[in-house]
Amino acid sequence: MTLRSVGWFAGDDEVAVLHRVALRLGPEDAGRPVIGIADTASDLNPCNAGFTALAEHVADGVRAAGGVPVRFPVMSLGEDLMKPSAMLYRNLVAMELEETVRAYPLDGVVHLANCDKTVPAALMAAASADVPALLLLGGARSAPEFRGRALGAGTDLWRALDDRRAGVLDDAGWRGLEQCLACAGPGACNVMGTASTLAMLTEAMGMALPGTALLDAVGPDIEAAARATGERLVAMVRADERPSARLTQAALDTAARVLAAVGGSTNAVIHLAAVAGRLGLDASLDRFDALWRGVPLLADVEPCGSGLVHRLRRDGGLPTVLAALGAGGLADLDAVAGDGRAWRDVLPAYPAPGADGSLVRTLADPVLPAPTLAAVSGTLAPSGAVIKVAAASPDLLAHTGRAVVFDSYDDMRTRLDDPALEVDPGDVLVVRGCGPVGVPGMPEWGMAPIPQRLVERGVRDMVRVSDGRMSGTSFGTVVLHVAPEAAVGGPLGLVEDGDRVRLDVPARRLDLLVPDAELARRRSARGAAPRAGAQHLRGWPRLYADHVLQADRGADLDFLTAPTPAHRTFVEPVVGRS
Ligand code: FES
Repeated sequence: MTLRSVGWFAGDDEVAVLHRVALRLGPEDAGRPVIGIADTASDLNPCNAGFTALAEHVADGVRAAGGVPVRFPVMSLGEDLMKPSAMLYRNLVAMELEETVRAYPLDGVVHLANCDKTVPAALMAAASADVPALLLLGGARSAPEFRGRALGAGTDLWRALDDRRAGVLDDAGWRGLEQCLACAGPGACNVMGTASTLAMLTEAMGMALPGTALLDAVGPDIEAAARATGERLVAMVRADERPSARLTQAALDTAARVLAAVGGSTNAVIHLAAVAGRLGLDASLDRFDALWRGVPLLADVEPCGSGLVHRLRRDGGLPTVLAALGAGGLADLDAVAGDGRAWRDVLPAYPAPGADGSLVRTLADPVLPAPTLAAVSGTLAPSGAVIKVAAASPDLLAHTGRAVVFDSYDDMRTRLDDPALEVDPGDVLVVRGCGPVGVPGMPEWGMAPIPQRLVERGVRDMVRVSDGRMSGTSFGTVVLHVAPEAAVGGPLGLVEDGDRVRLDVPARRLDLLVPDAELARRRSARGAAPRAGAQHLRGWPRLYADHVLQADRGADLDFLTAPTPAHRTFVEPVVGRS
């Protein structure tokens, strides 16, 4: 095959000379694939900090296989620090990566991705650019012990917050927890949060090497994986193995089932839809819900189960989960893994599911019955919403309650613990104004804490409904991603305190029990909802708010999706004098 980079480097004119000099290539380098190493390491993003060292191992692998490694920086999306949300910038980074590929002589790309949004951004870019690509996933952070228990990042912080608000955890304990969390070192959250979930899905779809989704963030295993990824990508370029051959409808369906089997993050539903949208695949909530109905919880990992991802990896990780699903015909084992083999040829090297003490169970002996995730729709969510059933309270899955409405995150934080707030355990907390357009960026504000005075009475869960997202490390009976969101005129914006809201997960319904005539009156009193968030609307947020799609369509930008095959054609630049 002809390398893409030949368009830059072949020839004897001044333009080709300029290009070769820029990368210090000599005649002996002709025919060597140029491999971009998209580096998201940043001091601002501890989850991706390990890439500073790992990038060199990738480069070693590229060189060993005969390629030319070129490292380039990418905006790092760190979940902990970015405001209002790293999600606001996922599409920007996907564009940055796609345009970097377009503009430069890259024959393939190794994406160094770990923290929540860096992974989907890389997948979206790989889908759109469609040059050979693999992700090197940055692995999980360590789990320091706190009061005799290994700490699950995120999940244990949320639990401790509830304990603190209930007066069970004192100030010294709270400070001790902080010190413990600070000791964990680089790497992704070590529970089945968004990063671990996306890593599993990436591996399942053949976009990372088998067995690499949940490595420890530091150590010889991940260094070997980095080198192997560099080597493998050079071979993929030579064989012209492109993402479009991996990211098929069957791969997407398998990923959706893996998501349910591991009790993964609800955020992954949006990210899968965004990747699918780039390729014209079907990632509708109806399709996902149908896929999820037959999938119980197979991975006993927090926040839905009990273990951490380090042990899940030792018990086989993604390959063993895939084997468990495949045994019931719920995974396409003829699909290609990241190393080029069919999954059914990869699996024998991994532990079987269901072994004594294994965190990976079989379909016949799951951790929890199906479904672990569900899509609901109804008069409150005409375009759908998502709930993580496995992290919810069973007795709240069919529940009707009185709405207690918060118009924004600030409103919720200000009034939630106000003694004057009228709220009972059976009420439904509605947090709106948190959708893709509303903030903009759809932050993880959907899981409102339980009001202080109810926590003190021992209440640990309530039905919550939001057009925002929640952290993959969170738990509770929380209906998320309500679409259309309030900021674009969705019925969530019409709810008033005291309205009755009915959640019926078995029937897949979410309804506002208010007569149509009353809703029409409220809608006309409210006027047309402006399509705009309330703040920070210049530059990228302005472009984002004007073009972002709703959650059920992946919250991608409308001009980046693939309504027809022609729209996904990657246009090569004119290569000449710059
Ligand atoms: Fe980065 Fe969890 S905050 S992976």
